[in-house]
Amino acid sequence: MRVDHPVRGVKVGRNDLCPCGSGKKFKKCCLTENPPVMPRNHPQKSKIRLKSPVDVAGIRRAGQLVVATLDMVEAKLAPGITTDAINSWVHQFTVEHQGIPAPLNYRGFPKSTCVSVNEVICHGIPGQRVLQDGDIVNVDVTTILDGYYADANKTFFVGTPGIDARKIVAVASQSLKEGMSMVRPGNCVGDIGWAIQTYAEGQSCSVVRDFVGHGVGFDFHEPPQIPHFGQRGDGVRLVPGMVFTIEPMINLGGYELNILEDQWTAVTRDRSLSAQFEQTLLVTENGWESLTPFPL
Ligand code: MF3
Ligand code: CO
Ligand code: CO
Repeated sequence: MRVDHPVRGVKVGRNDLCPCGSGKKFKKCCLTENPPVMPRNHPQKSKIRLKSPVDVAGIRRAGQLVVATLDMVEAKLAPGITTDAINSWVHQFTVEHQGIPAPLNYRGFPKSTCVSVNEVICHGIPGQRVLQDGDIVNVDVTTILDGYYADANKTFFVGTPGIDARKIVAVASQSLKEGMSMVRPGNCVGDIGWAIQTYAEGQSCSVVRDFVGHGVGFDFHEPPQIPHFGQRGDGVRLVPGMVFTIEPMINLGGYELNILEDQWTAVTRDRSLSAQFEQTLLVTENGWESLTPFPL
């Protein structure tokens, strides 16, 4: 079988390097009618859909709307507001800008954004919880614009943070940076997780195992999975045109979690603080470009 849509919208000659990243000529690889023998770690193995420059431009536009949405939330956040108010802001801002909030009705999720406070690791359902001075709150925004998905999140301080809040937010932010620094063609998915785990555990924090980053762009969650822990050299090799999120969830205590009765909200089992930052990244010829850029 050929790789499906490796280069939507881009022409590749028979003698060019195969866009699947094998290092072989196109005619000796994915162009052939006979199924090629898949080397280990070949991106086709997991049906990764590479993005063309046209696709990247679409995801970049969706990403600009996601970042503008996070900026809007940050400017309005204050003690005393409910998590449902954040949901309303995100929903309205998204649709006003011709976007669609991807979480709404995604696998039964009832709201337009995830809002995760303090011990909530991720997938918090907006509701009547009132934000208190000293809380940390993660807002995760995924927007569909012209059919393209971009996904990013940030953890904000509510009012004045205490020492633990400062620590976990700083470690989570730097964890994403450490992961991003490993993104370049030739490196592997496992290199990203290894860098994050080495850093975060070195700060006496823990890395959540049950949720991972993911391919994104044509759909909300695509292959490959991007674990935030692991070993150097493990997993698929990175090639230009891959688009995926890195979104490490970092806990002050242990990495174990519980899912609440609502079947969505993930909380730390020891109720310690958890923080997260997420961006959507493109693998470029030289390294990476964030399609949802914000300073870390
Ligand atoms: N945005 C989350 C992620 O980073 C997924 C949320 S799924 C939802 O992958 F249904 F809760 F919205
Ligand atoms: Co994501
Ligand atoms: Co997200």
